[in-house]
Amino acid sequence: MRRRSFLAMGGAAGVAAAIPGSAATAAVRRPAVSPRHVDPPGTLRGLAELIGLRIGTAVIPFDLNTPAYNAVLAEQFSVVTPGNAMKWGSVEPTKGVFDWSDADTLVGFAEQHDQLVRGHTLLWHNQLPDWLTTGVANGTISSSALMGLLEQHIFTEVGRYRGRIWQWDVANEFFTDANPSGINPNDFWVSNLGPDIIGQAFRWAHEADPHALLFYNDYNIAGEDGTSAKSDAVFAWLRQMLDQGVPIDGVGNQGHLDTQFGFSGTRMTQDLQRYASLGLKVAITEADVRTFVDGPATQVPTDNLAAFAQPYEFGQMIKAALAVPECISFTVWGFGDADSWVPGFFTGEGYATIYDVKLQPKLAFFELMQELKLGALGAPRRVTGRAHR
Ligand code: XIL
Repeated sequence: MRRRSFLAMGGAAGVAAAIPGSAATAAVRRPAVSPRHVDPPGTLRGLAELIGLRIGTAVIPFDLNTPAYNAVLAEQFSVVTPGNAMKWGSVEPTKGVFDWSDADTLVGFAEQHDQLVRGHTLLWHNQLPDWLTTGVANGTISSSALMGLLEQHIFTEVGRYRGRIWQWDVANEFFTDANPSGINPNDFWVSNLGPDIIGQAFRWAHEADPHALLFYNDYNIAGEDGTSAKSDAVFAWLRQMLDQGVPIDGVGNQGHLDTQFGFSGTRMTQDLQRYASLGLKVAITEADVRTFVDGPATQVPTDNLAAFAQPYEFGQMIKAALAVPECISFTVWGFGDADSWVPGFFTGEGYATIYDVKLQPKLAFFELMQELKLGALGAPRRVTGRAHR
């Protein structure tokens, strides 16, 4: 259909005729060029859209308040995740006093720019409000009160954005990094309420918004830990949850890589496929690839080869995503080195995103474009002449 209308409009010939000189004449003399070879809009979101994949980024207020970032955000991405704005500590800093301002602004921005939203995150041990953790520690919040507060939190937040969130990261980072791995007994939620609280959170979230896709999200669960121990444990737990009828729709692999550690794109593909074999959707939810740099302001890799390892690992991740049809979104954790969380969390490291500190696209950006182009359009068939038959 697209092909016919393109040719009817004088497609390839029209393009060629518009370009004076050699390129145009050469194009006319060559065998007819399929319109499939004409570039679609050259953006990450535009290319991914051709195969129904969404390209996302985490967003912090800086992105929305800085016009140059704001423009890239709208142009390149088709799904957004609040970097912090939907975490419990952000939305209810004081008990019973809510601050939805950043989350509302982001959801509004997304809707204006034809973007979907990944809600992040409802049940996590980090970035909880102080009043909650202090109350639990000093015994003024009992286990049953904590359970009630969590239920209320999930219904309040999921209910507020009901119908406007595509995927919710319901539960985040519950498994240990040990071999064998398992649900961390020392996790804040597990130690206070037992491991069944995770499945319960999914049930509450589903009740609060039956149409949102509900995800379990974690790091090092696809291709990253060298042994697949954590992936094995998460896989076994997911199967058990599904057997129990827990409403889980998908698994998010965060994808925080570091060039000093091993990573296998093949393994990532296999691990994602294995989750998908359970009937689940999968997503890459927080991709970045960090390396050692000269300093946080400039973020130039100190090792020349790392400058190539960084885009290579982004390439491996997007290839894994493309290879698994159940993978519905590929999200980077911020798109500019200037607003990445990495320099603040990993001493001496940076260069983790796809745009540099001056918001110029890096090799990793072009790597993603290249892979998406191949993924969306396929490599063109070889042009063969008589002599090569
Ligand atoms: C990070 C944010 O990017 C930082 O701004 C914040 O200070 C700490 O959290 N895994 C997750 C994310 O699921 O929520 C974390 O985000 C990064 C690791």
